[in-house]
Amino acid sequence: MITSNKHYSEPSVFTPENLLREARRQKNIDDCKVPDVCALDPDGDLVEYLIRTGQATLNECWACYHTRLYTVKQRGVEFAILGCAVGSSFAVLVAEQLFASGCKTLISVTSAGIINPTKNNSKFVLIEQATRDEGTSYHYLPANETSNVNADLSNRLMAYYRAAGLQIETGNSWTTDAPYRETRTAINEAKKLNVVCVEMEAAALYAFAKAKDKDVICFAHLTNTMAQTEGDFEKGEEMGSLDTLELIHHTINAVVKNQAYHWNKIYATKQPNEVSWTQEIPKTSLDFIHSFGLPKTAKIIDVGGGESKLVDCLLDEGYENITVLDISKNALDKAKKRLGDKAQKVNWIVSDVTEFKPTTNYDVWHDRATFHFLTTSEQVSKYLGIARNHVNGYMTIGTFSTDGPEKCSGLEIRQYSEEKLTAELSNGFDKIRCITEDHTTPFNTTQNFLFCSFKRHLN
Ligand SMILES: C[S@@+](CC[C@H](N)C(=O)[O-])C[C@H]1O[C@@H](n2cnc3c(N)ncnc32)[C@H](O)[C@@H]1O
Repeated sequence: MITSNKHYSEPSVFTPENLLREARRQKNIDDCKVPDVCALDPDGDLVEYLIRTGQATLNECWACYHTRLYTVKQRGVEFAILGCAVGSSFAVLVAEQLFASGCKTLISVTSAGIINPTKNNSKFVLIEQATRDEGTSYHYLPANETSNVNADLSNRLMAYYRAAGLQIETGNSWTTDAPYRETRTAINEAKKLNVVCVEMEAAALYAFAKAKDKDVICFAHLTNTMAQTEGDFEKGEEMGSLDTLELIHHTINAVVKNQAYHWNKIYATKQPNEVSWTQEIPKTSLDFIHSFGLPKTAKIIDVGGGESKLVDCLLDEGYENITVLDISKNALDKAKKRLGDKAQKVNWIVSDVTEFKPTTNYDVWHDRATFHFLTTSEQVSKYLGIARNHVNGYMTIGTFSTDGPEKCSGLEIRQYSEEKLTAELSNGFDKIRCITEDHTTPFNTTQNFLFCSFKRHLN
């Protein structure tokens, strides 16, 4: 029986990491990482199109025995794509290896047969739940559990598609591992279950994602009615490649470039000693705040505070009006948990700072290592507009200096010199002083920071 002899909480003896180690040794492949976003193209049409048009190059870090992975760099993003891994078992095998090779989000776009028409006749369906009519998922999840997409991920995506005016619907699929056993009776049963389409990977990929806590998104490209009439399986221009590529790009924008998602994921998966910015005592920040000589009733906001201990230190010193703002709810939840009862004395705000609508003015606006993540002029100008309107007193900003890192947490940053930061803030703020300092990370590397303080001037 497929459900017998399964031990869901027991680790596997055979791991993708160990297989890759051996493949690397045998094939003389460097131990390097594949891109953060990877795509599965079971039909192989998109991979073929990207190679033919010179848009994809062989990924030299991929140490798989069975497949080739291609890197695509376009529109300011990089992703990897793998073709022809058809069926649950093959798809999950490569998914395991992709995540073990550095992939963080996996997007699968598979051709599917239509069972029930979608409400709006959409070509693409984001599969929400998949009927487990295959074998692989039973190795990952008990039979009484459903294989479904992570709801948070799917809500974010659908909100993005709606806002972008894309016609993508959600729906349930039937995942089979025997397509040539799609009998009339089986199809009718699937119809009754409100299944939109039949495909060959989603149930297993979602079961793997659930069991291993990975981000996997499965789309069905509704292309056929099981070849019951001639002229079926038409996917559109370049065998549907242009539409599929568009979908992949939008999905990357929605998920990977979504800052809240990125940061929530970081705080959900990393401990303080695993991220570069952690400080036991934020001494420079405290020195700058003390230098303003304000009373303990001063209104202080720590922008992008994350789980920094600045709030603990300020509370210990008796400051009474502290706000911590961060885009990541997970970060603030961790800080609150650490503080216990003392957390009630703090005003916690989950917001993107560029969307922040303060209901009060602040005497001190503190920011360590957040401003530098604003990489467009529009973001910087929104941030500074909010600060200008809601800071009465002082600002202190710590960013990477021109001698500091060029990226942080996998994201692009903007480095600042004293002159550049002073010029950015000159509309509204006068520089008081700046220092540079080396921050020692928990991994004993150094990052050069620029810290400056400013006083709000009246225009
Ligand atoms: C490098 S960490 C620094 C955390 C903290 N300031 C410290 O010094 O430990 C950057 C923080 O900025 C937050 N962040 C990034 N972009 C943000 C945005 N647009 N709005 C609000 N917070 C943001 C992240 O969630 C993260 O907690």
